[in-house]
Amino acid sequence: MQVHDTIAGLRAARKGTARVALVPTMGNLHDGHIALMKQARSQGDLVIASIFVNRLQFRPGEDFEAYPRTFEADCERLEAAGVDHLFAPTEAEMYPQPQTYHIEPSPEQAGILDGEFRPGHFRGVATVVMKLFQIVQPTVALFGKKDFQQLMVIRNMVRDFALPIEIIGGETIRAADGLALSSRNGYLSEAERAEAPRLFAVLTKVIEAVHAGSRDFTLLEQGAIAELQAHGWSPDYVALRKKLDLQLPSAHDSGLVVLAAARLGSTRLIDNLEV
Ligand code: PAF
Repeated sequence: MQVHDTIAGLRAARKGTARVALVPTMGNLHDGHIALMKQARSQGDLVIASIFVNRLQFRPGEDFEAYPRTFEADCERLEAAGVDHLFAPTEAEMYPQPQTYHIEPSPEQAGILDGEFRPGHFRGVATVVMKLFQIVQPTVALFGKKDFQQLMVIRNMVRDFALPIEIIGGETIRAADGLALSSRNGYLSEAERAEAPRLFAVLTKVIEAVHAGSRDFTLLEQGAIAELQAHGWSPDYVALRKKLDLQLPSAHDSGLVVLAAARLGSTRLIDNLEV
């Protein structure tokens, strides 16, 4: 695997290959990322991963500085997964001067759910992903479904700007106890790690209730929030939404997803399950 820290170097390496698969990441790679890399292998003649902790998508007071940076270990995992090129730019390479143009997703998609609790987050994500797309010019790009709202924002950006890029969502990879793999799981204490699978368990219960015919979505959401609170969590939201656009469903809608974000101690975890 070749590592590039400049845009020019990456472009030179990419030149001439028809089908390029890109997996953008912020590093601290876990099995979820590696599953995406393997999926990418079957999609592109060239597989390019990127590692860049993108300041634009963090709010003041969030974990930008503390975000785990494990470059050497990440490189080993990428190499073993068959990645051809890693683009790992410095901040000075990506943002040589403060970014003056941004991609602003509509409030209907970026001001709800995680966007309500992390204002500006999806603007930062969309801006860096657009920039990565311009640099790498992939034919296909892969993102994890654990960040369900992020995936929707990126799909809509690609559609609205008619970018010739296929977006693929990779399934969430879970630990044996159900906890969705995330770089932020590393922040959990031993006791919090033991409690953390409750998020998945609570979402599973919501899904089972919907499958069993329950259509009072507000009641289901409130029940899930109460259960999390009773076990020491501070939930931001548990929300049943339409899968396609994450808007509120009516009682007869199908194609739903239940999404949640909740804090356990100082760690904010997100997860979702499709109905
Ligand atoms: O999901 C992530 O790791 C990041 O949000 C992404 C897509 C790499 C953009 O910085």
